[in-house]
Amino acid sequence: MRVFPENFLWAGAMSANQSEGAWDEDGKGVTIADLCQRGFLKGPDQEIVPGAFYPIHIGIDFYRTYKEDLKLLKELGLKALRTSINWARIYPNGDEEQPNEKGLEFYDHLIREIVANGMEPIITVSHFETPVHLAKKYNGFASREMIGHYLRYCRTIFQRYRGLVKYWLPFNEINNLQSMPLCAGALWDIESQPRDKKVQTMFQASHHVFVANAMAVKLLREIDPEAKAGCMLTYKLSYPKTSDPEDVWTAFQIMRRHWFYSDVMINGAYPRNMLRIMEDEGVVLAKEPGDDELIRQYTCDFVSFSYYTSFVFDKTMPVIGQTGGLFGEHNPRLPKNAWGWDKDPLGLRYSINQMYDRYHKPILIAENGFSDYESLDKNGQVEDDDRIEFLREHLLAVREAIRDGCDVFGYCYWTPIDVCSEGSMQLDKRYGFIYVDHDKYGNGTKKRIRKKSFAYYQKVIETNGRSI
Ligand code: BG6
Repeated sequence: MRVFPENFLWAGAMSANQSEGAWDEDGKGVTIADLCQRGFLKGPDQEIVPGAFYPIHIGIDFYRTYKEDLKLLKELGLKALRTSINWARIYPNGDEEQPNEKGLEFYDHLIREIVANGMEPIITVSHFETPVHLAKKYNGFASREMIGHYLRYCRTIFQRYRGLVKYWLPFNEINNLQSMPLCAGALWDIESQPRDKKVQTMFQASHHVFVANAMAVKLLREIDPEAKAGCMLTYKLSYPKTSDPEDVWTAFQIMRRHWFYSDVMINGAYPRNMLRIMEDEGVVLAKEPGDDELIRQYTCDFVSFSYYTSFVFDKTMPVIGQTGGLFGEHNPRLPKNAWGWDKDPLGLRYSINQMYDRYHKPILIAENGFSDYESLDKNGQVEDDDRIEFLREHLLAVREAIRDGCDVFGYCYWTPIDVCSEGSMQLDKRYGFIYVDHDKYGNGTKKRIRKKSFAYYQKVIETNGRSI
């Protein structure tokens, strides 16, 4: 059946900090992700521990292997590749006046190579890679000064890659600011705060992010009018645990906590429901004259989100003030993967429909993927049938959403090649179509091996989705 538009972006997604390695090379500064030895959900180590092994510091060595890796991704047939620019390669501390030319040179080569291999680059500006210095000195986006540092970085890369990059995502999974404030908002000093102060800080930081996002969109329109900016959420689809209206209401309120970010970035105004919550919580926002007008005028061009799973909520669960990464309960009706994540392809169709009904803007699935523990079998292969099944079911869900009338212009599979996991900061949790022979202790040849799923996705792309 022909459903996917001819120019559909069959894509892959990854990030700089999970793939590149070379964490302290060519003048790069230290980022929040670099401090995470194991699992940022618990919070990173406060400093690099001498002698400790950080898998993420090596990544998959993409800094050096990108040329060969991109050839493989070309063979896979990708029409687009989403990755991030590591902020600390460009501004090592984040508050320098001049960028680090060596860092820019790396992305000159990388982005040109992506294009040369026939892929559209989709670039995330900030993917948990805020320089630690900015987090420590300013408490990240809790401080208004962060806006200027972020915009200096945006200006540098928007100018440098004008005409080369059409799709920009100013912030990865920005609604994580409330559940993972350190990664998403560089809020260094928040976990120890009392609840009311925590809530106040998270809303104030969110406001600064909204202003930064609007100013980035303005800048992009001035520098490269052809380019598009997307708002990017982590879609934590929330189901009520029972049909008790109070459970249903709680699940809805949880969704509104996520939609808060896209409502502001797409609709250009604070939603009234969130203003009410802020009032109830006693939050007082410090705004500057012109903030509301900027937010109103410079909204994102498209909607994007990552989708991995759904969650279940009951009336006892707090809507605001909770940190700690993924939350909600598992759904007893759904099968789980090896990492305990529920598999819910219909949830993807539901999510796309919710977002399209809400905003009527083109949608990019920025991340969706299947993780597993994997190693080479006795034939030196990885027979990842479960990944193929996951992909098939989720692509069918995308297809159905398009048939429902939603304008989906791309699907980024996370990740086309194994990279370090973000949640656990190591290489046990693999998503790729390409196996990287490297483990979390740094052992292995780093050889790249096509898994069985490689041929499956290749065929899907070749047939523009007719072979799903
Ligand atoms: C998203 C992030 O939250 O989920 C990615 O944008 C991350 O960086 C992905 O890798 C999957 O999470 P994990 O913890 O399985 O790597």
